[in-house]
Amino acid sequence: MAVGRRSSMALLVVLAAASAMSLTLIPATLAVTSPYVRPPARPTLPLLQVPDDSDGQAPQQVHISMVGPDKMRVSWITDEDAPATVEYGTTSGHYPLSVTGSTTSYSYLLYRSGKIHDAVIGPLQPSTTYYYRCSSSPSREFSFRTPPATLPFKFVIVGDFGQTGWTETTLQHIAAVDHDMLLLPGDLSYADFIQSRWDSYGRLVEPLASSRPWMVTEGNHEIEKLPIVAPTPFVAYNARWRMPYDAGTTPSPDNLYYSFDVAGGAVHVIMLGSYTDFAAGSPQHEWLRRDLAAVASRSTAAFVVALVHAPWYNTNKAHMGSGDAMQEAMEGLLYGARVDAVFAGHVHAYERFRRVYAGREDPCGPVHITIGDGGNREGLAKRYEEPQPAMSAFREASFGHGRLEVVNATHALWTWHRNDDDVAVVADQVWITSLRANPACNKNRSEAVVESE
Ligand SMILES: [Fe+2]
Repeated sequence: MAVGRRSSMALLVVLAAASAMSLTLIPATLAVTSPYVRPPARPTLPLLQVPDDSDGQAPQQVHISMVGPDKMRVSWITDEDAPATVEYGTTSGHYPLSVTGSTTSYSYLLYRSGKIHDAVIGPLQPSTTYYYRCSSSPSREFSFRTPPATLPFKFVIVGDFGQTGWTETTLQHIAAVDHDMLLLPGDLSYADFIQSRWDSYGRLVEPLASSRPWMVTEGNHEIEKLPIVAPTPFVAYNARWRMPYDAGTTPSPDNLYYSFDVAGGAVHVIMLGSYTDFAAGSPQHEWLRRDLAAVASRSTAAFVVALVHAPWYNTNKAHMGSGDAMQEAMEGLLYGARVDAVFAGHVHAYERFRRVYAGREDPCGPVHITIGDGGNREGLAKRYEEPQPAMSAFREASFGHGRLEVVNATHALWTWHRNDDDVAVVADQVWITSLRANPACNKNRSEAVVESE
C-alpha cells in the first residue's frame, strides 16, 4: 500500500516535471488552447460557523493588509463589543507593543454585522515574523511575516474565489507555497446579498489572510446594490475589506482603487476599480494619471503591475467585451507609463496574452492575464472564441492560482498552477522582462506619458 502510494507520488512528480518541461517546447508564436478536461465542479462548502466563543469577544475573520512600506492593518470581527486593540511582538506569547484602532459595523436588509475592528501596527521590520492577538483575547494567537524590503518578491495572484471545495483546494495550494503577499482582482466571497456568507468567507480565508497581507480590489459580486432597500453599493466590502487607499505616495479618495509599493519601491502595484467611474475626468481617472506620473518620475520602480476585475483582453465567450469601456478610458495611460502586466478576474478560467496594446500585439504593451479561477460556485467558463487569436498565448478553463516572482529589476517569473484535483500542476510559465529596462520601450516613455494624457 505504502509502495503503491510512493509510486503514484513518483508518477505525479514525473508528470508535473514533464508538464513543466513541455512548456519550454511550445514555440513562442503558437497560440495554445489546453486540451485538459477537468472533473465536474465541487459543491459549495457549508457555512463555516464561529468557534466556541462564550463572551462574544473572540476575534474571527482576521486578515491583514500592508499600509505604506512598514505598517500593517489588522482587521477582525467580534460578535460583541470588544476593544479594537492589537497587541504584538516578535516572540510568541509576548506582546510588548500595542495599538488601538477603530470599530465599525453595518446593516444590510435584516442583517446586522458583528463589530468590525481595524488597527494599523508598526513600524515593523521587513522579513520578520510578528505574533499578535486581537481585542486582548487570550483565546487565539496569530502570526504573520512582513514582506521583504528588497527584491526578490513573491506574489500569489488569484481572483473570483468564492467558497467551494475548489476554493479550499486553491487555498491549500497557496498555503503550501512560500509567498510574501496575495493580490486579489475582485469577487471574494460570492455572498451575493446573503451577508452570513461574508462571515463564512472571512473564516475560510483567515488562516492565509491573517499570515500574509491580502491586497484586494472589488469585483461585481461586491456591489450588492438593490433598488430602494439597499441603494448604496459596496457596503459589506468597504466595511470588511478596508484597503490602504489613503496611504502611500499617491493617496486615492476611495477604497475602491488605490496603489502601493513593495520591495522598497521596486514594484508598484495599481489596484483599479472596474465598478466605479473610470471615465476621463472621473476621480479614479485623475488619480491614476497622478499615480502613473509619480511612478514615471521614480527611477526605483522596476516593475509596474495593475489589477482590474473585468478583463480588457479576453477570448472566452464569458463576459466578452465587459472590460471594453474601461480599456478605452485607461489603456493609453497604462501603455504610456509602460505598465508591465495587467491581471484580471471575472472570467472563470485562465488566459495569458502576449504583450498587447490597442487590440494588437505590441512589444511595449503589458502582458494581460486573466486569473479569475479561484474556485467559485458559478463554475468554469469553457467556451472560447475560435480560432484562437495569435495574441492569446495560452488559455484553459480550469481553476487554479498564479504566482509572480519578481526576481530582480529586470526579470519576473509568472507561473500558473492548475488545480488538477488535489495537486497543483504547473500548466503555464513565462518570464516577464521589465519594460523600463528595455531601451526600445523606454526611450520615449516620458513623451508617451504626455501623449497619452
Ligand atoms: Fe466577476
